[in-house]
Amino acid sequence: MAESLQKITGNKAQQYLSLIPQIKALIGNETDAIANLANVSAALNETFGFFWVGFYLVKNDELVLAPFQGPIACTRIKKGKGVCGTSWSESKTILVPNVEDFPGHIACSSLSKSEIVVPLIKNNEVIGVLDVDSDQLNDFDETDEKYLNELCEWLSSIL
Ligand code: SME
Repeated sequence: MAESLQKITGNKAQQYLSLIPQIKALIGNETDAIANLANVSAALNETFGFFWVGFYLVKNDELVLAPFQGPIACTRIKKGKGVCGTSWSESKTILVPNVEDFPGHIACSSLSKSEIVVPLIKNNEVIGVLDVDSDQLNDFDETDEKYLNELCEWLSSIL
């Protein structure tokens, strides 16, 4: 296992392009899901300094809080509720430039202003989501969507 991330400079796409192979190397042959999700959230946080970044996993028909970095968060989210539950029910990535414009957004923190949620899909079923929150409006774009989708596709395949 690599012991530290190589600090990445450049634009956001360059940062993702350098980070994703480092995450794959960091995880290596490790098969423990919690350990891997913990390190992925830490690596994303270390690189981008997100306000909140982490995972929810589907358990007994609810999303349950899993490894994350950031302030304490809501523990359980029902299917179709909030951005996370909608990403689950619709099986797609949801980019929210302003959380106040998303009906039913769940405010774990009033400081969260924009958000992107990417589903983890395995055998055509959503098994969890990656949620990234920012305390700035409009903080996520197609670049985040493209690379976080790529990361989550790979992650789902090893979970
Ligand atoms: N805002 C999310 C809830 C999770 S927290 O932001 C960590 C939502 O609306 O689903």
